Amino acid sequence: MKPKTFKKQITCIGAGYVGGPTMAVIAAKCPDIKVTVVDINPGRIAAWESDNLPIYEPGLLDVVKKARGKNLFFSTDIDAAIRSAEIIFVSVNTPTKTFGDGAGKAADLQYWEKTARSIVKASKSDKIIVEKSTLPVRTAHAMERILNANSKGIHFEVASNPEFLAEGSAVKDLLSPDRVLIGTQETKTGLAARKTLVNLYAHWVNSENIITSNVWSAELSKLVANAFLAQRISSINSISAICEKTEADISEVAFAIGKDSRIGSKFLCASVGFGGSCFKKDILNLVYLCEHYGLSEVAQYWENVIRINDYQVTRFVRTMLQAMFNTIAKKRIVILGFAFKANTGDTRESPAIYVTKKVLEEQAHVVISDPKALANAKIDLADCREKIEYEKDPYAAAKGAHALAVCTEWDEYRTLDYKKIFSLMEKPAFIFDGRNILDHRRLFEIGFNVFPVGKRPLTHY
Ligand code: NAD
Ligand code: UGA
Repeated sequence: MKPKTFKKQITCIGAGYVGGPTMAVIAAKCPDIKVTVVDINPGRIAAWESDNLPIYEPGLLDVVKKARGKNLFFSTDIDAAIRSAEIIFVSVNTPTKTFGDGAGKAADLQYWEKTARSIVKASKSDKIIVEKSTLPVRTAHAMERILNANSKGIHFEVASNPEFLAEGSAVKDLLSPDRVLIGTQETKTGLAARKTLVNLYAHWVNSENIITSNVWSAELSKLVANAFLAQRISSINSISAICEKTEADISEVAFAIGKDSRIGSKFLCASVGFGGSCFKKDILNLVYLCEHYGLSEVAQYWENVIRINDYQVTRFVRTMLQAMFNTIAKKRIVILGFAFKANTGDTRESPAIYVTKKVLEEQAHVVISDPKALANAKIDLADCREKIEYEKDPYAAAKGAHALAVCTEWDEYRTLDYKKIFSLMEKPAFIFDGRNILDHRRLFEIGFNVFPVGKRPLTHY
């Protein structure tokens, strides 16, 4: 059979939480385009080629299966994929720098720069290079300088097309995004690249949801979107602390303020604190940029969003300790949920990591339970010298436990048989609901001492 010819070829460098799902959706929606996803990690590529995908994301396997082998390919041959593509999306990781100037705040751009150099080396024709990774504002300028300092006469047009998907709902977010943002230069080649990218997304996204801007606005908008979302969580979490002192109830307060259409009801769930690979890193990145431009008041303002988040998780552990008579040494504590949020196996920056480490410092016996994140939990806690138990089954985990600490809002935790769990536990039995997902009154009636976030505790003593 003659090999299928495609209208266009796209390559994505970086087959992670963003590259994999984003490209799978582009391939599924654009059968006339060949999409190749490459990575330096052969294990990841092999997993994308199997039915055991490297990340857990509801609905993802179906989308991948729809296109894989037809117009969606995974490969470790990065040079070949660069050469054949007209558009290259780069979605490699951009973690916080851990060394040198800007350590602990600035973005570590080494993976991005390495990719840019590979692109220059392997390319034989003009290309559009798309920043899919989240990058500091004005990165495109630096990248363009590296890319266009080639002696082959090749032109690289750098565009910013930040990704706004949230883990756990990535497929849904990609299929019907609130907006797709495309930032390009307003030059002839920049505007041509803008048109190409708009046409790509127009395969399935309504034109009013595809917005365009200059490159710097697009780069900055991504950092600001995450900063605003995280700020809402820190705002409501800060109010949860005053609720606990005054007998106001955080759910009632969030509902009341969220009814104001100017405020809105989303992202007002008080919690043990936000986690995830991006909120903290992107705010730190914003803080670093503000400091770089001499805007120290602005830097401090955003840094406080992170401070409140650290405060919230510290407060959660302190509440546990105080409630359990100021000692949890040798007590069996179950961390119910280790993923940074429900419907993902991702544990990057999960508040559960901090809670676990603090509870271990108090010499408690820790049991970690999670439906999807135990493999990652083992990696996160590999350095801990203390013995930690990993138990997927919440009932087995609860056997002989003194306390349960809910750290992830998995739906299945709402409907566990808590009467049975109570009967399995040591008494007095405690539940610390770091996600406010349980029926606190019912748990109290079963016999538990219940400590929600931002609400009056229900205790039998
Ligand atoms: P990830 O760590 O899951 O994936 C990055 C991949 O890039 C890895 O598989 C790594 O092996 C690969 N890689 C690194 N250097 C490479 C190179 N030189 N050549 C080829 N492959 C290379 O990261 P992620 O969560 O997908 O995030 C990627 C970017 O997207 C980050 O900038 C992040 O801030 C941003 N982002 C992430 C999310 C999210 O939900 N995770 C959402 C929006 C934006
Ligand atoms: C977030 C953004 O929502 C995405 O738009 C963005 O693309 C992504 O970061 C990114 O750049 O990586 P994500 O981190 O996957 O997505 O998940 P969120 O739903 O935003 O949750 C982040 C954290 O906040 C989780 O720990 C979650 O449990 C917590 N959260 C969320 C709360 O504590 N309260 C809330 O009301 C909402």
